Amino acid sequence: MTPVTEATLALRLTDRINRIEPSATMAVVAEADKLRQQGIDVVDFGAGEPHFATPQHIKEAGIAAIQGNFTKYTAVSGTTELRDAIVHRHAVDFDSDYRREEVIASTGGKQALFNAVQVLVDHGDEVILPVPYWVSFKDIVRYAGGNCVLLETNEAQGFRVTAEMIERLITPRTKLIILNSPSNPSGAVMSPGDLTEVVRLAHERGIWVISDECYVYLNYTPKRFSVGSLREFRERMVIVGSLSKTYAMTGWRLGYALGPATVISAMQKLQSQSTSNPTSIVQKAAVAALKGPQHCVTEMRAEYINLRDHVINGLRSIPRVKCTLPEGAFYAYPNVSAFFGCSGVKSASDLAGKLLREVHVATVPGEGFGTRDHIRVSYATSIAELDRGLERLRKFLAAQ
Ligand SMILES: Cc1ncc(COP(=O)(O)O)c(C=O)c1O
Repeated sequence: MTPVTEATLALRLTDRINRIEPSATMAVVAEADKLRQQGIDVVDFGAGEPHFATPQHIKEAGIAAIQGNFTKYTAVSGTTELRDAIVHRHAVDFDSDYRREEVIASTGGKQALFNAVQVLVDHGDEVILPVPYWVSFKDIVRYAGGNCVLLETNEAQGFRVTAEMIERLITPRTKLIILNSPSNPSGAVMSPGDLTEVVRLAHERGIWVISDECYVYLNYTPKRFSVGSLREFRERMVIVGSLSKTYAMTGWRLGYALGPATVISAMQKLQSQSTSNPTSIVQKAAVAALKGPQHCVTEMRAEYINLRDHVINGLRSIPRVKCTLPEGAFYAYPNVSAFFGCSGVKSASDLAGKLLREVHVATVPGEGFGTRDHIRVSYATSIAELDRGLERLRKFLAAQ
């Protein structure tokens, strides 16, 4: 009998599962957890989630749902109440006019994104993806059989993405463009003008756009913007949204997609054969979040701006570290290439590994996001924790 080895085991798995890799961000979280379990005091700049607690009124709605026995299956794409709340919130905040058939609630924005890519991308299709990109985009596209065509951006121009840059990459096989503004990991925000031009170009060429707007409420420029307001281009556009970051609800798992009814109903078909409805209790909490008072969102946004300014000042004060000013989300993306070649550090991965092992600061190396010169620093934490981590970084880097 042939012995079962890793290699033979891998051969029995599908081609599609062997095309993807585990999330780089999750790997850092797991390693930091391991150190913590050994009693080590880790400063965690790795996690991509708000440090705030879920607002009280949202938690209470979840508890009331349990007490009220709202604990059974719902419609696959979410209750009517929830879908109406999503489209209403979006209409009020972004001047969109989606209908109930044009929205689906999913188990996190990630599921909405995964399902949207599954229904839009076929084997051999090309998907234009600006760099740096959120880790999961690449693997989700690959899982669907698509090929990512990477759009290199310029750090000195704030990782700007324009329609002209995208146009140069379009081929007859281009099926989809994935946008993510504000961006994870760079915090870059596309201007309404640039977003409009990209969406217009896609519309003219019959190319789909998925706009991942999971950080749309964490936009620190004077005007937040969703491509959903560009009603004339909606035909080929899917917006992915999430309550995870907006309402500090990462563990609850509630995201959504807004798009043409044909796409949404295909996503619903897929969801009906995999996870079915998002958790009923969470749907009630989500309605409370979307319909309730929004000052929690405003307050958290204001605090993120403080934290952003604090961490950027701190990082920029470290000799040889360069860092663009993030205009949204809660990540700084410092360029650490000046340290390559010092003390055996050849890459961002080496540096992030040393930072974790030697001074117990968790960051995510840029390679997972498609750039070699950066590490991602999540500043969704307290000022005190930022200071502790910055001090360790400063000392460690000074010694290189
Ligand atoms: C750019 C981006 N999109 C989507 C998601 C998915 O968020 P969730 O599945 O928690 O809604 C994340 C989470 O980190 C993200 O950073």
